[in-house]
Amino acid sequence: MNQEALLSWYRRIQRPLPWRLEPSPWSILLSEILLQQTQMERGIAYHAKLLKRFPTIQSMAESSVDEVLQLWQGAGYYSRARRLHALALDVMELHGGVLPNDYEGLLQLPGIGPYTAAAIASIAFMQPVACVDGNIRRVMARQTNQEQPSMKQVQSFADTHLVSKSPGDWNQAMMELGALVCRPRNPSCEDCPIANSCKGRLRAHQLPLPRKSKKRIVEYNCIVRIDSEGLPELHQRPNTGLFAGLWGPEMASDLKTTNCEFLGTIRHHLSHREMVVSVWKSDGTNGTDPNAVALSTLDRRILELVGVS
Ligand code: ADE
Repeated sequence: MNQEALLSWYRRIQRPLPWRLEPSPWSILLSEILLQQTQMERGIAYHAKLLKRFPTIQSMAESSVDEVLQLWQGAGYYSRARRLHALALDVMELHGGVLPNDYEGLLQLPGIGPYTAAAIASIAFMQPVACVDGNIRRVMARQTNQEQPSMKQVQSFADTHLVSKSPGDWNQAMMELGALVCRPRNPSCEDCPIANSCKGRLRAHQLPLPRKSKKRIVEYNCIVRIDSEGLPELHQRPNTGLFAGLWGPEMASDLKTTNCEFLGTIRHHLSHREMVVSVWKSDGTNGTDPNAVALSTLDRRILELVGVS
């Protein structure tokens, strides 16, 4: 593979992302946590919002986890927000407020897995470690014409090709190629700076083969109890499991709905399951203003259906 061609392509066409224009370890960390499971456009918006309210690790450590969750609303995967807050506390308590600058040290922190540790170590601290994620796996599968490479094989490919003197640019060049050119559907091979070495080019659009895994469909009943002022009863969910720590109306698979009024069904897609929620209305007491607490997007949709949002 012509690594210099990919690097110079990246330096020419890279998107002017906020954490590239004004890089700091904290800003880069926020971007990597968000982009793990959030699309770029939305990731940029949440990155700006979070960095504005929490310009430093210290400022997040001094806030409450509820305030972080409040800002995280709508971004999904709320356990990330809880772990990020825990990370800020750890960095203050264990590292004197300074983010560790190496892969091993970063990996010890809450919410930081191998991908994120490698991304931050290389982009923020110039450490020569290669990132591996789904995008890089796709680039690798096509370059090597492999149908279902294991993550271990992808890691070994990434380690072999890492340009150690520019690890941050190199890792981001692979990500940028996967995002802009070597796309899941419709790859634009005619624009690819490493098309010469691509062994899978003739069937790039078919590589890698999809892993077979059917999304599980889970059915729930949700009862929205409304008080005399028209406010819904909301409860804070446990700190583990679905929508951990967020607020919402009562929802479970085995809820009894006697004396409730049926309002409709909402289908909600999460990456690992599809939820089918039957929504019911009933009378209640002690409602909560939904705008005063952190809610998931699903719960906002439910309250909208009930007409109390
Ligand atoms: N996806 C995750 N991290 C990224 C980065 N630093 N640049 C582009 N896409 C990314």
